[in-house]
Amino acid sequence: MAITIQPVSPAVGAEVAGVDLARPVGDNEFGVVREALLAHGAVFLRSQVLNPQDLIDFGRRFGPLNVHPMMRPLDGYPAVLEIVKNPEDRNNFGGSWHTDLSYLERPALASLLYAKEIPPVGGDTLFANMYLAYEALSDGLRRVLDGLRAVHNTRMIYTPDAQAGGGIIGDAASMQRSRPDDAHEEAIHPVVRTHPETGRKALYVNCNFTVRFEDMTEAESAPLLRFLFAHLERPEFTCRFRWSEGAVALWDNRCTQHYALNDYHGHRRVMQRVSVEGDRPV
Ligand code: SIN
Repeated sequence: MAITIQPVSPAVGAEVAGVDLARPVGDNEFGVVREALLAHGAVFLRSQVLNPQDLIDFGRRFGPLNVHPMMRPLDGYPAVLEIVKNPEDRNNFGGSWHTDLSYLERPALASLLYAKEIPPVGGDTLFANMYLAYEALSDGLRRVLDGLRAVHNTRMIYTPDAQAGGGIIGDAASMQRSRPDDAHEEAIHPVVRTHPETGRKALYVNCNFTVRFEDMTEAESAPLLRFLFAHLERPEFTCRFRWSEGAVALWDNRCTQHYALNDYHGHRRVMQRVSVEGDRPV
C-alpha cells in the first residue's frame, strides 16, 4: 500500500496512512515515517491493532527505550507506561504543556502513544512546534536565550499534593508512582537546543519541569519563564489531534511540546506509551 502524508496544521503534525505497525516495518517504510517525523514534529497513524510488544518493537527502531523514572509501568512491560483516567477520576496525566522526561540528563528523543480506549468526545492531545516558538522571538531575546541554561526537575509535578488536587500525573488510584514521594530527578539543559538531526534551534523550556535559569533564583527566573510558557502555546504553533481507537501518535520531544486535554470527566481513557531515550541536549 502506498504511504500518504497529510499535514494536520502548517505548524506541526501529519497523518501518515499506509503503514501497519503490527507487521515488521521494512527499512523503506521506517525511513518514510522517520522523515515525516523530522519534517512535521509529530505523526499520527490510525487504525492500528497493537499489543504492548508491538509498541516496544516499533519504538526500539528509534533507539533504546526509557523506563519511566517516576511512574509504575504496565505489569510485565517495564518500558510501557499505561496512562489511565477512569470515569471517577478528576486528574489526568500530561494535562499541561511539556516535553517528556526533560528532567533527565538524556531526555526522551521521541514518544509513541497508542489509544486503547477513548472517550466518545474529548481527550484530544495538543502539540506545539518549538522551532517556530523560538524563531518567532525577537533577535534580541533569542540572543539572550541562546546563552542561558535552565534547571528542570520533577518537584512541581511528582508530589503527593500535585496528584491529590488538580495535579497532572493522574489520580493515585489509576496511575501509581514507582518511587517514594521524596524521590526526585533534576537536570540542567540549554534553554535553546539544536536538534541533532535537523540542525534547527528549538526552545527547550516547559512549564511542568523547568523551574529556573541556571545561577538565578526561581523568583528572578519567573518573569521570563512565564513569558516563554505563554508564548510557546500560541495557537499558530500548534495542532490538535482527535484520537480514534487504535490511533498512534509519535512525536519528537526535541522540538515539540504536547498537552493532554482533561475535558472528558465521567469517561474512561486508556493509552499506552513508550519513550525512546535521547541524547544530551546541546
Ligand atoms: C503524555 O503526556 O504523554 C500524555 C499524552 C496524552 O495522554 O494525550
